[in-house]
Amino acid sequence: MIEMTPPYTPYLDLKPLNDRFAQEDLVSFKEIHTSGRFIGGEYVDRFEKEFSTYCGTNHCIGTGNGLDALTIILKADVALGNLPQNASILVPAHTYIATFLSIIHAGMQPVPVDVEELTLTAGVLKNTTISYDAIVAVDIYGKLVKDEVYAFAKDKSLPIYCDTAQSHGAVNNKGVKSGNLARASAFSFYPTKNLGALGDAGAITTNDFELAAMCRKVANYGRESRFVNHVIGVNSRIDPLQAGFLLNRLPQLDVDNDRRVEIASYYYQHIDNKKVKLLPVDFLNNCVSHVFPTYVDNRKVFMDYLDHIGIGTSIHYEIPPHQQVAFKELNHLSFPVTEELHRTEVSLPCHPLLSNGDVDRIIKAVNAY
Ligand SMILES: Cc1ncc(COP(=O)(O)O)c(C=O)c1O
Repeated sequence: MIEMTPPYTPYLDLKPLNDRFAQEDLVSFKEIHTSGRFIGGEYVDRFEKEFSTYCGTNHCIGTGNGLDALTIILKADVALGNLPQNASILVPAHTYIATFLSIIHAGMQPVPVDVEELTLTAGVLKNTTISYDAIVAVDIYGKLVKDEVYAFAKDKSLPIYCDTAQSHGAVNNKGVKSGNLARASAFSFYPTKNLGALGDAGAITTNDFELAAMCRKVANYGRESRFVNHVIGVNSRIDPLQAGFLLNRLPQLDVDNDRRVEIASYYYQHIDNKKVKLLPVDFLNNCVSHVFPTYVDNRKVFMDYLDHIGIGTSIHYEIPPHQQVAFKELNHLSFPVTEELHRTEVSLPCHPLLSNGDVDRIIKAVNAY
């Protein structure tokens, strides 16, 4: 009998995900091309309005990418006198390097602390003895930072910002969405994100009028008006084309997130292998499952095994920021929880186009490992 090789299930394939919007994208492209307006304009205004409405915030400012969004927020609060120049910013050690870089690009010092299970918690903050001026929380893997972290910051009158690059559409127990929980939040629309563009794009959301106005200024050369510059700014604006493509995808975001959450819950119900650990099931609460993490001692063997069966995986992430060569001054620090997570993490496919059959096949393979 001929043995049939099952089709390869990649970790993520952006082509079919974006093919769903091909017709609308072509219309947007044509309209923008015909309009002759390639910076700012109607598409950018519409996207900013619709995304702020989606998040429930008063303001949204499009940026070139997520890293810039966070940098601009921090620079803007310095310009407003709400943060000192060279501020010390508490940040979870477990994050993508962009969070650290944005703090450095804003001329500030990252003060990393270890996480509890995965993210910052009030317990972590209470036990921190180092002083700092503000907090940048991170909704890593699409899991919202708990309300207790925001309550802690409020209690101590500390500004708290959120890196929401991975948590578009996540909702807390009170129905408040990602982007509407911190003083300001920084989104990335990098193509692999739950809401992804066809290139780089990002956005800032906030309810603070003054901060929104200053972010817009900083993002646009620090310009007060065409020839008058009030602050040292950058050039980081969302392109009308990306705004147009994102407008086509925004109505699908909740449906896509629901499917991700359904798959993640199904994994929790059916993955049963002592060699493949999952985070405590609380991970599924207030989470849009941007990444589905498992933890395996010898991850290369596990990843090769799945690859051989026809299942792609990924790692988020291999080396934590404080151990990167780029951050020599942080290399002496030790964060055991973060380091263990980085040493063992393997991400399973978790995206809206996986069929039930794909998910069952992945579970069967994981359980047979
Ligand atoms: C947690 C986190 N922060 C920041 C960023 C930076 O976003 P971007 O790639 O749009 O600059 C990313 C995405 O890559 C991210 O995952």
